[in-house]
Amino acid sequence: MENMIPTAVKANVPTTPENMIPRAIKTGTPGLDELLAIGGLQFKSTVLVSGEPGAGKSILALQFIYNGARLFGEAGVYVTSEQSIDRVRQNAKGLGMDLAKFEENGLIKLIKIPVTHGYEMAPDELTNEIKKAEVTRVVIDSITPLEYLSSDIRSFRANILRFLENITTRNVTLVATAEKRKTDFDNAEFTPEDFLFDGLILMGRIRKAISFERVLSIVKMRGTKHSEELHPIEITNSGLVVKQIE
Ligand SMILES: Nc1ncnc2c1ncn2[C@@H]1O[C@H](COP(=O)(O)OP(=O)(O)OP(=O)(O)O)[C@@H](O)[C@H]1O
Ligand SMILES: [Mg+2]
Repeated sequence: MENMIPTAVKANVPTTPENMIPRAIKTGTPGLDELLAIGGLQFKSTVLVSGEPGAGKSILALQFIYNGARLFGEAGVYVTSEQSIDRVRQNAKGLGMDLAKFEENGLIKLIKIPVTHGYEMAPDELTNEIKKAEVTRVVIDSITPLEYLSSDIRSFRANILRFLENITTRNVTLVATAEKRKTDFDNAEFTPEDFLFDGLILMGRIRKAISFERVLSIVKMRGTKHSEELHPIEITNSGLVVKQIE
């Protein structure tokens, strides 16, 4: 199975001694796992994908669930507060991901949580799904509505912490997305939620002559060394790939 993942990027990632390598959960996104010394996300870790509108956060998150099912036979839950489930399916198709097959065999479950419910008010379906022993991958797209529902930044932070505490008692690896108004890679400004997750991936655009290029940067990934470079990404009908640095 593993050799089905294209190796797109060889980053300057220092190696970790064999016996210290934690279990890696491969994202399966071409070029991304190679940026992490352990070869993927750490099992049971929580990773926030943050960035500006249209940066590719939802696509990256969906690929985490889709590749888990397609390449590794792992069950995943994708929670969306932004798009309808039909829209998620339709967009996925345009990116080469046919979710139907995996929804039918139970490996992928799409859940829509209306923004007004938050993740506390509508936890039953979510927690029931996550509690299923076979679920190992969870996506929350996105956590930002929780902020609108919280009376202040402290309660927002507490809400996230509660959710993370709850989820990390399970055998799941979490990828959540968050909106960032401005992604200035040179002078990044971080928000409280950026500190609460084990990993932080920043996505946005940089100026290249008269156009913009989409890029991704791994800001932190507790427990593993990672690339410190800005990596161009490309979104096509076949999905999102992290490209080799020219
Ligand atoms: N089939 C496709 N081919 C090429 N590009 C695509 C395709 N589908 C989507 N895109 C690009 O992906 C972008 C959207 O990506 P995505 O939904 O992951 O962004 P996002 O970071 O989640 O944004 P938001 O914060 O608004 O939710 C679009 O702006 C579009 O340019
Ligand atoms: Mg999105």
